[in-house]
Amino acid sequence: MWGGRFDAPPNELVARLGESVSYDRRMYAHDIRGSTAHARMLARTGIIPQADADAIVDGLAAVKAEIDAGTFVWSAALEDVHMNIESRLTGLIGAPGGRLHSGRSRNDQVATDMRLYLRDEAAEVVRLLRALQAALVTLAGQHTDTILPGFTHLQHAQPVVFGHVLLAYVEMLERDVGRLTDASRRMDVLPLGAGAMAGTTLPIDREWVAGELGFTGGLCRNSMDAVSDRDFVIELVSALSLMMMHLSRLSEDTVFWCSQEANWVELGDAFCTGSSIMPQKKNPDVCELTRGKAARVYGDLVTLLSLMKNLPLCYNRDMQEDKEPLFDALDTAKLVLAVYAPMVASIVVRKERMHGAASDAALMATDLAEWLVRQGLPFRQAHHRVGALVGAAHRAGKGLEAFTLAELRECVPEATEECLGLWKPEASVAARDIVGGTAPAQVRAQVAFWKAQPWMA
Ligand code: ARG
Repeated sequence: MWGGRFDAPPNELVARLGESVSYDRRMYAHDIRGSTAHARMLARTGIIPQADADAIVDGLAAVKAEIDAGTFVWSAALEDVHMNIESRLTGLIGAPGGRLHSGRSRNDQVATDMRLYLRDEAAEVVRLLRALQAALVTLAGQHTDTILPGFTHLQHAQPVVFGHVLLAYVEMLERDVGRLTDASRRMDVLPLGAGAMAGTTLPIDREWVAGELGFTGGLCRNSMDAVSDRDFVIELVSALSLMMMHLSRLSEDTVFWCSQEANWVELGDAFCTGSSIMPQKKNPDVCELTRGKAARVYGDLVTLLSLMKNLPLCYNRDMQEDKEPLFDALDTAKLVLAVYAPMVASIVVRKERMHGAASDAALMATDLAEWLVRQGLPFRQAHHRVGALVGAAHRAGKGLEAFTLAELRECVPEATEECLGLWKPEASVAARDIVGGTAPAQVRAQVAFWKAQPWMA
């Protein structure tokens, strides 16, 4: 590859340290796509003969066919996917193969390959995210009247409908889609033409290559930035990290819902595992593994951030270490998303148990305080009175719903017959009929909004 300058081949351990083909070979189709466009451009601009470009394009197609078929022989001695493909090309077509690398460096080549590859991968992650959102929206649509306790500090707070809880996660995933789409749009510029770092003396046509490869954002404007930027990788992995955080929180909620303490939800058998000793166990491993995998993707992000932080311009070999954490984050996120959507679809909801847990009248204490506000009391005063009532109930060892009107009035003198109707969770959720609130009417409208999205079809 670079024999001219050297008297000795690389030390065997150096070669082992430096090879990346064991993992970067997954970008072969994108590498060949980039090289094909580059070769065509070299002929169009008269830098190489048209016949040589034709031979290169055909040769690259033949190399791709070998790789697709699994007959290609990868060589660690050739370092990376780029050199493996170029070497095989020259093996197949001879001298014209040696013209492919005109006006190009592996530095702008690898940057191009990664952008092409990540554009496709980001689209695939978005597709999987949409499938999970669709599963959540479908389940939410079945539970716009299913009431359960909502929590703050993991303490029963106020009743909500289950559909509202599920749509909260749909909102989070929507922002994840936005971040991935945004990252994908920003990386959609062509580095090729930057050469090793300063551009090339050859009269290449970068615009044509950008059009050919579908880079809608045009060209990287600065050759030094083009070959040393990896923030597009970090941006994507940070979007994946946030997405994993959301899935980890959903998992945490689901693990609790499946516990014997709650027993509100049961996951399909296919998405759970048993115990090798305790015959009764049905464990929500997918949720637990998702929480664990989130940690792993964060690790990938920190690896990438640390990798780049002290690198001088432009390309440094350290940067080859970007690929394993990037690929790991993508593989992990895609696997988790793929298993999560059908797991959500397998959920069986125990409405009665949810409703029972939400029926403690203490969850409606805020409703009474707000009733007092509607009668003209300042909220702080209302809060204090209802607090005293809850304290009295606690001391008496009975629920608020067991209080007579006379007993109510001892703490809340303004109370009327109407207050006795506030203790029903149905009344509580229905009364929160504002945009974004948990009233079934509002949640039905939200479900309708999501069901009208094109990806729900
Ligand atoms: N495999 C290398 C990487 O991923 C390609 C670029 C190599 N460039 C170089 N000058 N050694 O970073």
